[in-house]
Formats: sequence, structure tokens, C-alpha cells
Amino acid sequence: MAQVTFQPGGVVARGVSGESLFEIGRRNGVPISTSCAGKASCGLCRVVIRAGEEFLTAMGPLERRHLGNVYFITKQRLSCQARLVADEGDVTIEVP
Ligand code: FES
Repeated sequence: MAQVTFQPGGVVARGVSGESLFEIGRRNGVPISTSCAGKASCGLCRVVIRAGEEFLTAMGPLERRHLGNVYFITKQRLSCQARLVADEGDVTIEVP
């Protein structure tokens, strides 16, 4: 299984290919803001990718609508849209 570390709390969780960071966080008690419950419409579930972006799906148009094309600067993703691409790898994110 892949491993996701949620900062600043330090929660370490496991996930499988296809799961979103939002789903993994919720399942493990990490408070991630939302008002759309993971449907990419509220834009509140932003997280910062600190490591392991190569283990996540690429940013799609729904995310770009909220975040623009500045990932290379901000490293922000919508946690409900960033999904694990494999059953292995280490990802570290920061939840604001
Ligand atoms: S939970 Fe609303 S955009 Fe991700």
C-alpha cells in the first residue's frame, strides 16, 4: 500500500491506487475542509504537496478552475481530486 503523511499533525495513513487524498484523510480522522464532500466544486479541500507528487494523478481541468496553472509555484492541489496512481509510494502533504 502507499503511505500518506498528513502534516502538521503527523498522521501516517495507508491508501490504494485510485483513492483520493481527501478520502484517505477522512478515513483517518484528518480534518480537511469541505462543503461539497469531494465533488470538486467548493475548492476548500486544498492541500500542499510536500513530497511524492509523482505518486499522484495529474491535475485536471476541475482543479485548474480553482487553483489556476501555478502548481509549480504553490504546490497546491484539491485533495479530493489528487488520487494515488499506484499501491506504493510515499506522499507527504500539508493540510492548512
Ligand atoms: S472537497 Fe470540495 S473541492 Fe474538494
